[in-house]
Amino acid sequence: MSSPLQRTLILLKPDAVGRGLIGEIISRIERKANWHIAAMDLRTLDVATLERHYAEHVGKPFFGSLVAFMSSGPSVAVIVEGEHVIEGVRLLAGRTNPLEAGPGTVRGDFASVTQENLIHASDSEESAEREIGIFFPSAVRRDARVPAVSAD
Ligand code: TYD
Ligand code: MG
Repeated sequence: MSSPLQRTLILLKPDAVGRGLIGEIISRIERKANWHIAAMDLRTLDVATLERHYAEHVGKPFFGSLVAFMSSGPSVAVIVEGEHVIEGVRLLAGRTNPLEAGPGTVRGDFASVTQENLIHASDSEESAEREIGIFFPSAVRRDARVPAVSAD
């Protein structure tokens, strides 16, 4: 059974940073009861990092364009900890296609196309620990069930 006390990896993508939406999005997360920010870092992501982060999407038709966009300027990587935070941040972000994202969600309120959709959020406990290992290696739990870094 999964514990409700979780942590998740968020990226505020280059469009969020470039449009001055860091505060707006972080504020929505920060105001949620029983959630708190555990780590935060502004950085421009390189291709190798994006290939690890988006490993499930390598080779898909949109991958090249996604990497070009995601490396076009700085992103903010964040670890958020809290009750049910993995599903909670996914709900707060909204559906991948902003046209399908409801009002009140980050993507529904501020985005209009699938690629420039402002925010990434881990989709499971396994993804969260893997992604935290990519962006914050020092935050990896020694007892993590899933290895954060593949042995290659
Ligand atoms: P995905 O993991 O499916 O969505 P989410 O971010 O909601 O977990 O896809 C990762 C990102 O790839 C998505 O946020 C935007 C981009 N993307 C496209 O540009 N075109 C597409 O058709 C899809 C599915 C995703
Ligand atoms: Mg995804």
